[in-house]
Amino acid sequence: MQITLLAAISSDGFIADDMGNGNFSSPEDKAHLRFFLKSTECDCFICGRKTAEEFQDKLTFKPLLILTRAPRLTEQNKLFFKDFDDLENLLEIKGLHAPALLGGAETYAYFLENRKVDRAVLTVERIRFYRGKSLDFSRFQPDFILEKTDRLSEQTSVYYYQKRRP
Ligand SMILES: NC(=O)c1ccc[n+]([C@@H]2O[C@H](COP(=O)([O-])OP(=O)(O)OC[C@H]3O[C@@H](n4cnc5c(N)ncnc54)[C@H](OP(=O)(O)O)[C@@H]3O)[C@@H](O)[C@H]2O)c1
Repeated sequence: MQITLLAAISSDGFIADDMGNGNFSSPEDKAHLRFFLKSTECDCFICGRKTAEEFQDKLTFKPLLILTRAPRLTEQNKLFFKDFDDLENLLEIKGLHAPALLGGAETYAYFLENRKVDRAVLTVERIRFYRGKSLDFSRFQPDFILEKTDRLSEQTSVYYYQKRRP
């Protein structure tokens, strides 16, 4: 199994401003993300319950696995899980191997703190929020190797990290 974390981050490290707007990335980043999500590198999406509610209308084309402390019955493409045992069960039952981890802040932290992220694709936008929800990837950076960077436009850069082998 390979979990790929994808996030858009402001240049001062936030994934949403203090009004909760996390949908600030450039058209270039949105196209880049859409391409990845539709590719064979991803066979399902993982979101926290709040992010799932915000973006569920855009995440209909593959299974959407939702982290929640109050799991519910499956609805359409939405499957709910409460911890990693639950998630592993779901992935095995559904034959899924390549989840894209799409946030939000609590969910990124839960996966990173438990060392469940294999790859991270971080888009950094040239914008500053000063306050908001932070990803704080720098805390986990020693666990990863920066493999490549890409420039999508003047204001948008992408950083590809791979988990270090033990
Ligand atoms: N810039 C980006 O790339 C990006 C990407 C995604 C989201 N965002 C932004 O991020 C914000 C949402 O992030 P968020 O941190 O508030 O919420 P979130 O991570 O999307 O969802 C939080 C919810 O996930 C569940 N959860 C979290 N940790 C859990 C755990 N250890 N065990 C079980 N369930 C757990 C809980 O659901 P229950 O309450 O149901 O128990 C919790 O309320 C939004 O503003 C969104 O726009 C930005």
